[in-house]
Amino acid sequence: MVSVTASRHDKMNVIDVVCLCSCFRFTTEAIRVVNGPVSVTEGGSANLSCRLTETDEDLEQVTWQKRTRGIPDNHNFFVILPPRDVRNVNGLGNRVRFIGNLTMKTGSIQILNVSLHDEGVYTCIFTLFPSGPHQTETRLTVHVRPVVTVTPAAPLVVGGESGILATCIAANGRPAAVVSWRTDQLDGPTEIQNNATQNPNGTTTVRSYLLVTSTRSMNGREVQCVVNHTALEHEENVPYRISVHYAPQSGNISLNGTSSEAPVFQCDVDANPAPTRYTWSRVDSEVLGPSLRPEGGRLVFLKRDPGLNGLYACEASNQFGRVTGTLFVYTDDTRGYYGGLIAAIFVLLSALCLLSFYTWNLRRSRPQQGDVGMQALGQQES
Ligand SMILES: *[C@@H]1O[C@H](CO)[C@@H](O)[C@H](O)[C@H]1NC(C)=O
Repeated sequence: MVSVTASRHDKMNVIDVVCLCSCFRFTTEAIRVVNGPVSVTEGGSANLSCRLTETDEDLEQVTWQKRTRGIPDNHNFFVILPPRDVRNVNGLGNRVRFIGNLTMKTGSIQILNVSLHDEGVYTCIFTLFPSGPHQTETRLTVHVRPVVTVTPAAPLVVGGESGILATCIAANGRPAAVVSWRTDQLDGPTEIQNNATQNPNGTTTVRSYLLVTSTRSMNGREVQCVVNHTALEHEENVPYRISVHYAPQSGNISLNGTSSEAPVFQCDVDANPAPTRYTWSRVDSEVLGPSLRPEGGRLVFLKRDPGLNGLYACEASNQFGRVTGTLFVYTDDTRGYYGGLIAAIFVLLSALCLLSFYTWNLRRSRPQQGDVGMQALGQQES
């Protein structure tokens, strides 16, 4: 508002008052905040613009005041005196600087590294001569980016009731973040429950719970927590891979290893968590036999032998249950195993025969007998 000191206008008459009123109206309308309300993300810089237009009066000083949650009364914090004297009155220290131009009648300032404490109403006051102070207010809003995390709940067990699969937390955002889930990889129904908590510093923590009735097919699928917030350039997606627990499913014994080696049987079951115990046994015999060694989910055949023929079983269990798989093993020969050895000996013997024949022939051919190859050799040597 305009305040006029009596000393300056002690000879005030009717004409003066009329003039003052029109000047007052004129100059008030001429002052405006160019940028309007300012929003800035915590840690960023806020440009507070203030411009005086269309006046020829002398500018005596520009004063900035503010009121915040911490100090709710207007108080000066920055004063600019022509031609270029800048005074930091209290509070912001090096974080505020003058970015205006007094000849252009702009009094804009920049506040660096803005924090939540800076949020409030800023008043820019141009003090002119003779009309006095003219002021306008700007609201500075500070946004705080939320910190997003997804925390898994205790794994759900297939066959149980609907429960919390995971919780997405968008912590300490200002304003409150908008949190949802993307669950298109899940076939079953899902439910989302959101809950917001106000923090003493003015930020809000939003918790979003994703509830499902777990099925085995959910295991390994992915859901995403989706967070939208004004301080985020793009929506934030945090993926979460689902783990649901279930007992071992249909067991299956498979063969590992090549035919030339002793085979290894593998007990394959689908279970989550992985089976903690495997028990190998023979259905048709009390004992496994000395040439077999169980190693967890593997059964290693130390050597082939026809006595291994029989019906094998593996039982796999975790804390939720167990399953048994069987395999009938029948092998009527051990050639695959010994055959390789015999072939190797045969090759070795043939090589030896050939070599001895060759040396014998070489000796005999000297100087002129033997086959063509030997003759050629003999000629070279003679
Ligand atoms: C910004 O301000 C915070 C406190 O609000 C401070 O911890 C941080 O060091 C400052 N950063 C810079 C670059 O001055």
